[in-house]
Amino acid sequence: MSRKKWQRPEKGVSRTFVMKKENYVVNAFLGLPGINCLDLIEGLETGRLTKDTFVIVVEHSKINLSRIKTFLKKNFKKFALYYCSFQDLNLDNEPFEGQIYNGQIDFAFLDFCGKMNTEIGYWLNKNQHRFTKDAQVAYTFQTQRHYNKKLDNVMLQWSGAEERNALEVLLSNSRNNLADGVWNKDVNVIKIVNDFVGSRKKVKSMGSLFSTNVQTHIKCICMMLNEAFGSKNTVFDRVYRYKDEGHSAMVTIITHFNGQSADENDFLDVVKINDELTNVKGKRIMFFKERKTRKNKKKTAAKHSYMEICNIKCRKDLKKRGKIAYITRIAKAEAAEQGVKVSLRKRAILGGIAKQLTSMGK
Ligand SMILES: C[S@@+](CC[C@H](N)C(=O)[O-])C[C@H]1O[C@@H](n2cnc3c(N)ncnc32)[C@H](O)[C@@H]1O
Repeated sequence: MSRKKWQRPEKGVSRTFVMKKENYVVNAFLGLPGINCLDLIEGLETGRLTKDTFVIVVEHSKINLSRIKTFLKKNFKKFALYYCSFQDLNLDNEPFEGQIYNGQIDFAFLDFCGKMNTEIGYWLNKNQHRFTKDAQVAYTFQTQRHYNKKLDNVMLQWSGAEERNALEVLLSNSRNNLADGVWNKDVNVIKIVNDFVGSRKKVKSMGSLFSTNVQTHIKCICMMLNEAFGSKNTVFDRVYRYKDEGHSAMVTIITHFNGQSADENDFLDVVKINDELTNVKGKRIMFFKERKTRKNKKKTAAKHSYMEICNIKCRKDLKKRGKIAYITRIAKAEAAEQGVKVSLRKRAILGGIAKQLTSMGK
C-alpha cells in the first residue's frame, strides 16, 4: 500500500494523542484533515467522532478538496467544507448556522503544521463564543529555531505580568516532552534569547541558542492561545514536540476549557499594538540574515504617529488612565526592543505627543 500524505510515525503518535477515546461523543468538530483525512478516520475508529457528528472542515488547497468532499459524504450525515484560508473562515455563514447544537464546536483539531501567526490568534479570539465551555481544542504548529520578532514581542508584553506566571503554572500541569532546564519558571527565557541574540557572535554553541529559541517559541504560542481564549479557562493537557525524518519539527498542543468563564482580557490591545509596532505583515518572520540586512537599511518611518496609534485628540486625553496605560504598554515594548528604560521611552512618547498637539494648536 502506498504511503499516504501525512502518514508519518511521529505525526501518527501526535494524532493518536488528539483523537484518543474520551467519555463523550463529539457534537461538532472543526478541523483541517487534509487530503487523506487521517485524523477523521482515527476519530471514527476510536468512537470520538460518529456519523452524526457535524464536521466543519477548512482547506485552502484546491487540489485536496474533491477527495475530502468524497470522504465527508461517505462518512458523515452533516458537514460543511470551506475552501478558504482558516483565518478567513466565517462561522456565521450558512450552512453552519442552526445546523449544530447551539451553534458551538466541542472539539477542534487545528492541525496547521505551519507557523503560528497573530492572524490565527485574532480568529480564535473573535470566535471564542463558537466553542463550548468545555471544548477540547488541539493545534499543531511548526516550531521555530530562529528568533521570531513578532511572537516574541507579544510574549514580552505579557512577561512579568500575572498572565505569564499563570501560564507557567498551566504548562507545569501539562504532560509534555519539553527539555528540562530551560523550561524553568525561574528563568526569564525571553531575556536569555535577547542576550543570546545580542551577543550571538560570541555564542559558540548555536545548538543551545536554537533549543532555547524553540522553547521560547512554544511558550509564545501557548501564551497566544491562552490569551486569545480570554473568556474561557484553558487547561493545557499536553505539549508534544515531535519530528519526523525529513520534515520540520512540530509541536502539538492539546487543550480543553474547564467549564468556567474567565474575564475578557487585553488580547486585542496587546496584539494590535504589537502588530503596529513591529510593522510586520501577517506571517512574516524575521530571520537573523534579514535582521542583519535591515540593520544596514535606513529605518522606515513609523506608519502612524503615536497620537494616532493611541487615539489622542486633545491634552485632556493625556490624563485618562486608559490612554496612559496604552502608552505604557507601547513604551514597554519599545524599551525592550531598544534596550532602554521604560520610563525614558514613555517620557519620549508623551513628549512627542505633546509636541504634535502644540503644533496642531490643541
Ligand atoms: C497537516 S495537514 C492535515 C493532516 C491531518 N490533520 C492528519 O491528521 O493527517 C493540514 C491541512 O490543512 C491545510 N491547511 C493548513 N493550513 C491551513 C490554513 N491556514 N487554512 C486552510 N487550510 C490549511 C493544508 O493544505 C493541509 O491539507
